[in-house]
Amino acid sequence: MDTMEALFSRRSIRKYKPDPIPEGVLRELLEAAMSAPSAGNQQPWHFVIIHARKILDEIPSFHPHSQMLKEAPLAVLVCGDLKLEKHIGYWVQDCSAATENLLLAVHAKGLGGVWLGIYPREDRVAGLRKLLGIPEHVIAFSLVPVGYPAESKPPRPDRYNAMKIHHDKW
Ligand SMILES: Cc1cc2nc3c(=O)[nH]c(=O)nc-3n(C[C@H](O)[C@H](O)[C@H](O)COP(=O)(O)O)c2cc1C
Repeated sequence: MDTMEALFSRRSIRKYKPDPIPEGVLRELLEAAMSAPSAGNQQPWHFVIIHARKILDEIPSFHPHSQMLKEAPLAVLVCGDLKLEKHIGYWVQDCSAATENLLLAVHAKGLGGVWLGIYPREDRVAGLRKLLGIPEHVIAFSLVPVGYPAESKPPRPDRYNAMKIHHDKW
């Protein structure tokens, strides 16, 4: 799948088959996430791979829009490490870039996933800190359930909007 095809056909997938994700495929997904650009190339991210059914089932108790975790074979939590930041505040953009790379790789490998927002919702950040034992200087940023899709969606919603484009001045 070429890059333009991948980004035009990616959709949020929220229903998954129970089949496990092969280790080699997971490794490729993480390599894609870590290939993202980052401010000063600081790569201030960590990734927590969550396989444990008990943990996946617990998250919807404090994240109201994450029910799909109950059928996902795994989820990847993207975290920002404030100790790895050289350019203060850019960790949010760095983790966003890693999350989008991860989503595109998930799609390119024939898998499905969805970006679940964690940061800046304090209750979700705190819930994951407690559940996973995340240290104080690390902030849970986004959570991506991954599985083989059990739903299909039309590939390319047309979101091009000429009203959002400005030439040379606002
Ligand atoms: C920052 C962010 C937070 C999101 N949080 C959730 C979420 O908590 N639950 C969910 O089901 N989808 C979540 N989404 C997915 C969006 O709902 C989805 O991307 C949007 O509806 C567009 O659909 P598409 O991804 O299929 O193009 C989030 C997306 C982003 C970028």
